[in-house]
Amino acid sequence: MKIQAVKGTRDFYPQEMRLRNWIMDAWRRVSIRNGFEEYDGPIFEYLDLFAAKSGPEIASQLFNFTDRGGRNLAIRPEITPTLARMVNAKINSLPRPIKWFSMPRLCRAENPQKGRLREFFQWNIDVIGENSVLADAECIYVCVDAMRELGLTKDDVQIRIGSRAVTTEFLKLIGVPDEKLDSILPVLDKRAKVPDEAFVEMAKNAGLDDKQIKHICEFQDLPAADAVKEYMIQHALVTGGGVVPGVGELQQLEEILAVFGIRDYWAIDFKVVRGLAYYTGIVYEVFDKGQSMRALAGGGRYDNLLEVLGGPKVGACGFGMGDVVLGIMLEEKGKIPKDLIEQRLDFFVINPDSARPKDGQDSNQVANNAIAGGRRVIEMVTQLRSRGVATDFDYSCFGMPLGKQLKEANRRGAAKAVIIQPDGQTVSIKDLSTGSQKDGVPIKDFLENPGRAS
Ligand code: HAM
Repeated sequence: MKIQAVKGTRDFYPQEMRLRNWIMDAWRRVSIRNGFEEYDGPIFEYLDLFAAKSGPEIASQLFNFTDRGGRNLAIRPEITPTLARMVNAKINSLPRPIKWFSMPRLCRAENPQKGRLREFFQWNIDVIGENSVLADAECIYVCVDAMRELGLTKDDVQIRIGSRAVTTEFLKLIGVPDEKLDSILPVLDKRAKVPDEAFVEMAKNAGLDDKQIKHICEFQDLPAADAVKEYMIQHALVTGGGVVPGVGELQQLEEILAVFGIRDYWAIDFKVVRGLAYYTGIVYEVFDKGQSMRALAGGGRYDNLLEVLGGPKVGACGFGMGDVVLGIMLEEKGKIPKDLIEQRLDFFVINPDSARPKDGQDSNQVANNAIAGGRRVIEMVTQLRSRGVATDFDYSCFGMPLGKQLKEANRRGAAKAVIIQPDGQTVSIKDLSTGSQKDGVPIKDFLENPGRAS
């Protein structure tokens, strides 16, 4: 019986694993240098945690099941609700602001396609317990920092920033009743993702009339925060003196991002609304400048989520960056280093005593010598490994010719081969990249300081 991997999942052979680790090491490095601490949660949670709070799109993509005790559970499709649950559980003992990161494996029952799988990793950066725009700006900066760390520049990626607060206010001003906002916001999020006719169709089905749809399209095409109020005055939606909620905050964000020195990496785009239901303020998505795939990352402010999950009202913001779109993009743009070597061996220990007798040699003696040489290899390997030095050997070292073992040492990418001489007292150390060899090194000296030879 041949069973294949499930569609939309990935097997990480060592080569793919090297790439995954390279990306995740960069994520971790960037998180730590920006002051974030790592956390993780369980891979499954009560279904209710996701079903109600993340919105209909995620709810329709859940892998859920009933356990033997009849509990309704779901594999995590995102980690933000888990983070909110964890913080709520210790809210009184955690000093704020909480700056945490995580790199969870997530599952979504999506239709697999380029850049969209059913299992993926997602780097999350979140700040909880801070209401100021500075926290949103810092998260955006961390996102840019990671992209730069991975070799992506302003010519490769762009962060498009919108505002749920401004968009919600706009919808109210054009006559959308409060109770319809939750169902209309996800429709607006589709504007840039579906053809125009499909968007109009969706908007009509959501209860918007032609005039409202025209207004929404014009609003979503505005190029900057400053233009929002002008538009509203022009269309008699507000009077000159009024304050439009969310606009001041966006203007502040623009100024702070300039101070962070990342002016070239973002643009205001009110078409970014985000699909998840819990966002309340500034929202953003990161796109490949060619925008050939889905977003590379997305996030924003979610000031109500902790409260909705039974905690206090605490400001929160952050983003998630998946490894799939990112990996494809790095590959297409040639940003993946050619020589990604996960763990280079320092030494490969070799027994030069072959078990094959040459003319005139006593075959028993030759076999015994080969066994003694093999034993010396294992003894030296264990001594080096116990000193923390990455060392390996060939399983056929109890008799295979030296040449075969050297070939294996090269294939394994070892830095140096250590050939234990038959006298049992000295080694020859061969540099496998240059081919140069040093003979007659006393074993005692070598083991005392293997670093000198490496
Ligand atoms: P999200 O927009 O659902 O946000 O996902 C963020 C990123 O995860 C996406 O931009 C994409 O790169 C990746 N991603 C999502 N679904 C898939 C998939 N099926 N296959 C491959 N990659 C995928 C969230 O999940 C929020 N919880 C992020 C957040 C953290 N907001 C605040 N803090």
